Amino acid sequence: MSNPSILILPGDGIGPEVMTEVRKIIDWFGAKRDLAFDVSEDLVGGAAYDKHGVPLADETMAKAQEVDAVLLGAVGGPKYDVLDFSVKPERGLLRLRKEMDLFANLRPAQCFDALADFSSLKKDVVAGLDIMIVRELTSGVYFGEPRGIFEEGNERVGINTQRYTESEIERVARAAFELAMKRNKKLCSMEKANVMESGILWREVVTRVGEDYPDVELSHMYADNGAMQLVRWPKQFDVIVTDNLFGDILSDCAAMLTGSLGMLPSASLGAPMENGRPKALYEPVHGSAPDIAGQGKANPIACILSFAMALRYSFDQGAEADRLEAAVQTVLADGVRTADLMGPEGGVPVSTAEMGDKIVAALDASL
Ligand code: NAI
Ligand code: MG
Repeated sequence: MSNPSILILPGDGIGPEVMTEVRKIIDWFGAKRDLAFDVSEDLVGGAAYDKHGVPLADETMAKAQEVDAVLLGAVGGPKYDVLDFSVKPERGLLRLRKEMDLFANLRPAQCFDALADFSSLKKDVVAGLDIMIVRELTSGVYFGEPRGIFEEGNERVGINTQRYTESEIERVARAAFELAMKRNKKLCSMEKANVMESGILWREVVTRVGEDYPDVELSHMYADNGAMQLVRWPKQFDVIVTDNLFGDILSDCAAMLTGSLGMLPSASLGAPMENGRPKALYEPVHGSAPDIAGQGKANPIACILSFAMALRYSFDQGAEADRLEAAVQTVLADGVRTADLMGPEGGVPVSTAEMGDKIVAALDASL
């Protein structure tokens, strides 16, 4: 059997810098854990525009459809701000998400003990936190028709439509239940069934899908209460599933419970392929950070943790994902910090490459 395949798209700004560190990690798993991947690399975003005049070439798109997982750095930068909307770097990422039909966006909020002081919440509220928000990504109010700004009488009206079909709700619910099965068998679905018909349907369909997962403890919550509960006592949750709009807001809120943008990974999953693996794109939440690009200051951990998610959700290597996350935990506990993780007490930050090397060393020590 051939090795599982990964397409790496470093992109722009700090994307290539953090991806260099991920390559070290991937190589480590090949050399030390007998987990070899077929890795290929291509261009996306501004880097692709510079070479091909488009932010994602057709051949790259075709490759992304074939591999087991795509790993993306970041796209964009001031150099490309003048470009026409149709060829902006972000369009490359949007094309990937759309054509791969990645309907489930996974955003973990995980607190690394050494960084618990970073949170705006009390330490005991966030210490040990490990939750996952599943946001529906391809439908809902960002896509529903009718939409637009229309004349109505002597004024204008702005319209967006929240629209969900049963099958759209069902597939993201199923993804969330599958995830809950791999984690702690606890799922909370959030909508506003009290004031929105789409929410009533959402709750009905999620409940029905839940009948296929009797081992998962399912609960429902109104999304506004969910926001309150997330900042009050986030550890009451394990997996949360919600729609595109609520998920956009709730996942950003949950992410900030635990600190720096340089620490946040994500995954976007689609339908299962022939080999049973879901279509998948893994990427850090942060952008191309032009303010620090090219200076060796970027924190590679968000991108490294995105690869840990790939190990867990694309390659069924949960134990190896745990190993990688533990290595990150160890390095942070040792006080190793990139500049974005420096607290008020100061200290000397390490470079992007040094952080990658320390994590590799911690992986070695884990054997
Ligand atoms: P950004 O996430 O690139 O940066 C925001 C702030 O966080 C900056 O001060 C940056 O230095 C810092 N930061 C981000 N990642 C970091 C890391 N790994 N280590 C240390 N510090 C880090 O967001 P911004 O500034 O709004 O956007 C910059 C460019 O990135 C724009 O062109 C934007 O369109 C693009 N972008 C791309 C995204 C993507 O590729 N998924 C997502 C967000 C923005
Ligand atoms: Mg957002």
